[in-house]
Amino acid sequence: MDDLPKCAADTPVGVELESGKLYHWCTCGLSEKQPFCDGAHKNGTEFKSLKFEVEENGEKWLCRCKKTKTPPYCDGSHNIS
Ligand code: FES
Repeated sequence: MDDLPKCAADTPVGVELESGKLYHWCTCGLSEKQPFCDGAHKNGTEFKSLKFEVEENGEKWLCRCKKTKTPPYCDGSHNIS
């Protein structure tokens, strides 16, 4: 298995998130439930999901290319080849 995550998509996705709820962002890129973890990393990778919460309800743009420097949020890195 590669050390690098798989690019699940080269665009971020906007999702409505609720404060007080715990989310699991996919770090390996293998999840079928992007941008969230579905446990696919357990099949032979060293990756683990990233747990995060938000302080306010609202739409957030989450990274799917897995190259962001500010996970789980898109930082525009998907535009750099
Ligand atoms: S989708 Fe990964 S940085 Fe934008």
